[in-house]
Amino acid sequence: MSTAAEDVRIDEGLIAETLVAGRRHDAVLLREILAKSLELKGLPEVDLAALMGVSDPELLGEIFQTAKNVKESIYGNRLVLFAPLYISNLCDNECVYCAFRARNRELQRRALSQEEIAVEVKHLVEQGHKRIVLVTGEAYPREGFEYVLNAIDTVYRTISGPGEIRRVNVNIAPLSTEEFKLLKARQIGTYQVFQETYHRDTYAWVHVAGRKRDFDWRVNAPDRAMEAGIDDVGIGVLFGLFDWRFEALALVQHIRHLERRFGVGPHTISVPRMEPATGSDIASHPPHPVSDIDFRKIVAILRLAVPYTGIIMSTRETAEIRRETFALGVSQISAGSRTNPGGYSEDEKIDAAQFCLGDHRPLDEVIRDVAALGYVPSFCTACYRLGRTGRDFMDLAKPGEIKEHCGPNALATFQEYLEDYGSPETRQVGEAFIAHALAELEPGLRAKAEKMVRLVKDGTRDVYC
Ligand code: 5AD
Ligand code: SF4
Repeated sequence: MSTAAEDVRIDEGLIAETLVAGRRHDAVLLREILAKSLELKGLPEVDLAALMGVSDPELLGEIFQTAKNVKESIYGNRLVLFAPLYISNLCDNECVYCAFRARNRELQRRALSQEEIAVEVKHLVEQGHKRIVLVTGEAYPREGFEYVLNAIDTVYRTISGPGEIRRVNVNIAPLSTEEFKLLKARQIGTYQVFQETYHRDTYAWVHVAGRKRDFDWRVNAPDRAMEAGIDDVGIGVLFGLFDWRFEALALVQHIRHLERRFGVGPHTISVPRMEPATGSDIASHPPHPVSDIDFRKIVAILRLAVPYTGIIMSTRETAEIRRETFALGVSQISAGSRTNPGGYSEDEKIDAAQFCLGDHRPLDEVIRDVAALGYVPSFCTACYRLGRTGRDFMDLAKPGEIKEHCGPNALATFQEYLEDYGSPETRQVGEAFIAHALAELEPGLRAKAEKMVRLVKDGTRDVYC
């Protein structure tokens, strides 16, 4: 692909220089950086590099505490929940870390029919989910790309009892601008695509065959999505392929590019760490493994780098790591996930899954845990349905106003979950939690939130502001 002036350019030389420059910071300067981050304007890359080099436990504790403060001042204490919906594991690419890679003979291949997709959606809805991210390998059955468009329609059409999926995000192969327009017309929420690694040489050896070998086609996919009118894009790195410090700075370069070009950065960042996968040696032995402490650093530093961008934590991680990272800046979590097509309605078949999971707890248990930790589990989908996306969302989020919407919406959707799907145990924990959270709100907001929660208790559904 030829490169145009507006294309994404990851400057590897600059990243190396920045990492060296970051080493020159002492404790006084580091504390100045942390104080500056509390202004919620993000941090320059050299400051991020300085924070990356910290290993002193006391300073590290200060980084974590600052990330927590930043998260709370923007997002409050809510955590948005979603589930992935894998509809197909067909793939033409050969990514050495993934069980779906084309030459993996150990995997059972499967693309769900529209009827099978509807059955999966029913299961998710009956657990209480309202948001999904639709995932496929990078090849489609006979219908081609239409398959995905039809699947989105199927998801939105499927209703079970009092519930339905209200926001479909998608994580699929990079598309052309024309195809992105078709995706936009299907009312998707966020389009997600992870670069996996921003390091070109590493990218080349881990992507052995298929269209995904083209680094530039992938790295420019969020640009094409935004050109096509998709306001919310999600980006990410698969941690374990290359040095995490490089990857995090490259991710920030990518974000700054989007901010410059479109006036708004990505809606979300994902931070998957590599997990074992059937038929992949590398997945069990990553070339650059990321320790738990470094993983927490990544989340905290990204929170300070881009305070207004959502950070997603998947069930690749164990319950314990997830709990630790909630406080550091995570705003969205998946729960009760399966990564094999058909995994929600059929017994789990590990030989069809993309990778192994670290958190196997059902949604209800995760919700109870999240609430017990002091976070409001939220199923809110209001912003995108009210057109608060892209720049509008960021403009609203920046002065912290989003809390006025998110707080009441989180409580109303949590109440809805408890009414329709909560186990007796979770209902007990949740009711007490909501009563307490309402009492804590300032009077104006409390009246609004109480009214919304009351409406839900009285039987109205899908209440949001
Ligand atoms: N472990 C964790 N994540 C993986 N992915 C692919 N293989 C693995 C693995 N072994 C991630 C890639 C892909 C996303 C859908 O799943 O980052 O983009
Ligand atoms: Fe295919 Fe995506 Fe897996 Fe690569 S990571 S083999 S593109 S499903």
